[in-house]
Amino acid sequence: MTTSFTIAIDGPAAAGKGTISKAVAKHFGFAHLDTGLLYRAVGAKVLVGEKPVEAAQDLTAEDLQADGLRTAEVAQAASKVAVIGEVRQALVDFQRSFARRAGGAVLDGRDIGTVICPDADAKLFVTASPEVRAERRYKELREAGSDSDFETVLADVKARDERDMNRAEAPLKPAVDAVVIDTSDLSIEAAVAAAIVAIKEKQS
Ligand code: DC
Repeated sequence: MTTSFTIAIDGPAAAGKGTISKAVAKHFGFAHLDTGLLYRAVGAKVLVGEKPVEAAQDLTAEDLQADGLRTAEVAQAASKVAVIGEVRQALVDFQRSFARRAGGAVLDGRDIGTVICPDADAKLFVTASPEVRAERRYKELREAGSDSDFETVLADVKARDERDMNRAEAPLKPAVDAVVIDTSDLSIEAAVAAAIVAIKEKQS
């Protein structure tokens, strides 16, 4: 395919959108951008003393490869810098040009279908209950050797939801034309299959 085809996948933390996005990108042979990583990279720089807006304006591809971007501490820092309008603005152009690349693109985040790519060809909103999402995150953390407890992980998930959904700028919400996939009771395979079916309907 030489033309562009943009798939927007939004949803709260640990709903499965990363896994679904990677699988969908592989299935269709599209490039994938995890936009949360941009905010995490900015959050990580702020944790070492940089100013949020400057950190976003000066972000480089190398910053996205930094160690430790997946920690809970960086996730909270990312959610905090993400409420700042100028930080979001600094990241818009990069995301939009990625979305338009020839050959197709999958972008996952919180505001892709609503703000970054309101004209995306296919939009999904991937969600799950806070308890299910916290359970998944808790298992990942335990497997990675962390001794965090479930209640703390659940509180973290809820705090991030609260901030992401209630901020003034580009709050997390499904686009009116998004297909909602609730993964609470779905296996990964079933969730990926549902996503592929929804996207194929938009291709024809
Ligand atoms: O998807 P993630 O957990 O890596 O995202 C980390 C934080 O970044 C998330 O809590 C909110 C913010 N974010 C955002 O505001 N907009 C996006 N498109 C992606 C992430």
